[in-house]
Amino acid sequence: MSLKGKKIAVGLTGGIACYKVPYLVRALRKAEAEVVVIMTEAATKFITPLTLETVSDNPVAIEMFPDGEYVSTRHIDLAESPDLHVIAPATANLLGKVANGICDDLLTTVICAAAGPVMIAPAMNVHMWANPITQANFERLKELGYLFVDPGEGEMACDDYGVGRMAEPDVIFDAITAFFSRKPKKKVLTGKRFLVTAGATHEPIDPVRFITNRSSGRMGYALAEAAVALGAETTLISGPVSLKPPPGVKLIAVESTAEMARAVKREFKTSDCLIMAAAPADYAPVSRAGQKIKKSSDALKLDLSPTVDILREVGKLKRDDQRVIGFALETENGLANARRKLKEKNLDMIVLNSPGEQTGFDHDTNAVTVLMPGKRPVYIALATKKVISGKLLDYVARLL
Ligand SMILES: Cc1cc2nc3c(=O)[nH]c(=O)nc-3n(C[C@H](O)[C@H](O)[C@H](O)COP(=O)(O)O)c2cc1C
Repeated sequence: MSLKGKKIAVGLTGGIACYKVPYLVRALRKAEAEVVVIMTEAATKFITPLTLETVSDNPVAIEMFPDGEYVSTRHIDLAESPDLHVIAPATANLLGKVANGICDDLLTTVICAAAGPVMIAPAMNVHMWANPITQANFERLKELGYLFVDPGEGEMACDDYGVGRMAEPDVIFDAITAFFSRKPKKKVLTGKRFLVTAGATHEPIDPVRFITNRSSGRMGYALAEAAVALGAETTLISGPVSLKPPPGVKLIAVESTAEMARAVKREFKTSDCLIMAAAPADYAPVSRAGQKIKKSSDALKLDLSPTVDILREVGKLKRDDQRVIGFALETENGLANARRKLKEKNLDMIVLNSPGEQTGFDHDTNAVTVLMPGKRPVYIALATKKVISGKLLDYVARLL
């Protein structure tokens, strides 16, 4: 996509991920955007302004009060003239400052005065990201309408492993192009009732232990948010997850697969479409111990029985005016298994995803293949679950 005529301010703060930003700036320049770079003092310790000046083809702004330069109200110009501000990498410090209106350097002052949208790609150590203060700042900024390219999971420069790594430059670039190509969404699902399921379920072994899986619920929550954005009256049936329900969604919280099945069957009667993005446990202990099972040196044998297959049950109940969308997470023979499920469970669409470094369970990004009866599979390349949800909902809307 061409970004000709767009002016993008890229702000860098003091994190090791600064070394990736020239790739982003180059991609933006190749797409014909004008790029102005603003760096914090800390960012200049990680990468030289000369590098950014060269790739952006513009002077780099760093100091609020540079000696001997005519600056006047440069911070206001830098705030008002760009079509989009992108902060990548954004430190924990930057999130804290922006969330609290602190303007103690050029970048934070520009962001405070920014007339247009601000997109933030946080990058930090796993513990800094998990810190409740950082999370509160992140949530506050999201509520205030700041756009985020969420950090990914992986190995960190400090040898820790976890969430906090800056999204790759191509993912940030895609988020920028998606931002500029967005059209005001028509509320094409107005009057439709959507039922979305999300997350894993818990199958208790005893009062303190349970069987579950790695599903975080992010895909289902993103789909529910996308359905609301298109005007659908949306009910979200969610297993235990640590996500906030999107605004405008009716949440039904469940714990076990049996509970989820009961809620789905009840709500499905009055729904136009079910999107089954949850990953209910396939097996549950035959019986639940009344007291905590004591540890002993003997092997512990658990008898498991299959849980109810919610999609199969719903597929049988489906009326002609209803649509059912399933998800398949496969580690082998993905297409063949997904095709079989599509047919056997009487689905209108199945979304195939595979567990990977940036796809499947517990990631903010995904890459999926959409299968519909009688149609060629459609691949949706790696993108945030939010972007993927928007694309999936376009297909679902056409089915309705
Ligand atoms: C080697 C090194 C790497 C760092 N990486 C990060 C990082 O990835 N994220 C972060 O929030 N802070 C990181 N810091 C700490 C920040 O640089 C520090 O909090 C600084 O005050 C941030 O300033 P700024 O937000 O104005 O750029 C790092 C520090 C060092 C010495």
